[in-house]
Amino acid sequence: MVKINPNFQKLPGNYLFSEIARRVSAHAAANPGKKLIRLGIGDCTLPLPPAVIKAMSAAVEEMGKKESFRGYGPEQGYEFLREAIAENDYAALGIKLAADEIFVSDGAKSDCGNIGDIFDKDNSVAVCDPVYPAYVDTNAMAGRAGDHDGDRWTNLIYMPCTAETGFMPEPPKRTPDMIYLCFPNNPTGAAATRDRLSLWVDYAVKNGSVILFDGAYEAFITDETLPRSIYEIKGAEECAIEFRSFSKTAGFTGTRCAYTVVPKALKRQGESLNSMWNRRQTTKFNGVPYIVQRGAAAIYSDEGKKEVAANLAYYQKNAAVIREGLTKASLSVFGGVNSPYIWAQTPGKASSWDFFDLLLNKAGVVSTPGAGFGPAGEGYIRLTAFGDAEATIEAVERIADSIR
Ligand code: MLT
Repeated sequence: MVKINPNFQKLPGNYLFSEIARRVSAHAAANPGKKLIRLGIGDCTLPLPPAVIKAMSAAVEEMGKKESFRGYGPEQGYEFLREAIAENDYAALGIKLAADEIFVSDGAKSDCGNIGDIFDKDNSVAVCDPVYPAYVDTNAMAGRAGDHDGDRWTNLIYMPCTAETGFMPEPPKRTPDMIYLCFPNNPTGAAATRDRLSLWVDYAVKNGSVILFDGAYEAFITDETLPRSIYEIKGAEECAIEFRSFSKTAGFTGTRCAYTVVPKALKRQGESLNSMWNRRQTTKFNGVPYIVQRGAAAIYSDEGKKEVAANLAYYQKNAAVIREGLTKASLSVFGGVNSPYIWAQTPGKASSWDFFDLLLNKAGVVSTPGAGFGPAGEGYIRLTAFGDAEATIEAVERIADSIR
């Protein structure tokens, strides 16, 4: 008889955002007519920029004609998009990347999980605590996390990120093989300085580890002194893989397009990780739709850049509204400056799920409980700046009223 992957049986409960969606649906069904404001999952509310729609519409027309129809595309992404990424997202920062070091995909979440395919099952894995749960759950599925003891995974190396350390991880005592870092951080909103990232790059180079750097929120950096890519740090091309996404910059959460950079200089045991990832993608992935890639490339046009900047400014204003409103309501608030996430301490040391329930029931606001991101997230909730502006103002008022 077939045997299932036993690691799935070790997973405690649902994936965090599925669990929240389940609870919110149950609440909505029990409270028909009650207006909920959703500031839980970081899902965009502004439509795709007009430049993207124009490019996608033109691509749809192309697909409808025999002479311009396209079937399977390159698994790694079309050259026009990879070149645009290399030029706009990297050359503009002084980083030289060849187009074949960039792999276009359907999402940073998928890639953060799929990247595990090119690493041994016995590698040790370090994650921040709190952490975006996809890194943890995918490693648990792959058998790298050990067992869940009700609180933590026995084989994962947790790097606590607390208010005392500015939500920055310290290199752990036990040296990890794979290190997940995400800056600006999901969920805490903390952003890493150049010195901080240099410390990690030096550490990874020295130990032969690989940094899996999630840069999905780079566009929200407002402080010009902060690095936007790990490759701004000397030596990073020899130790880091970077994940980026069009989801939060250009509203692609439903359209799906992202990319992963695997530099050719990154080698372990004499193997090129770029070649390995290429092998993995060409075997398991058939590329992002041409129409979507044309839409993504349009964000690098003059028009597209302006429209994306306007969308980012809209969300950044929401972040300021949340940050200031909650601070005024006497909550301790972090993030929301170089990040679309606001990380707030629960009042009166309430547990994060209790405060989540209170906000849902009393304020009609959906948040994300900090404990869902790991043990060190207990005592916090996360709110996103991706909501509608008016609804965000209302949500903050409702939260303030509910804790008065
Ligand atoms: C989040 O809310 O943490 C993100 O939207 C989840 C994701 O990007 O998959």
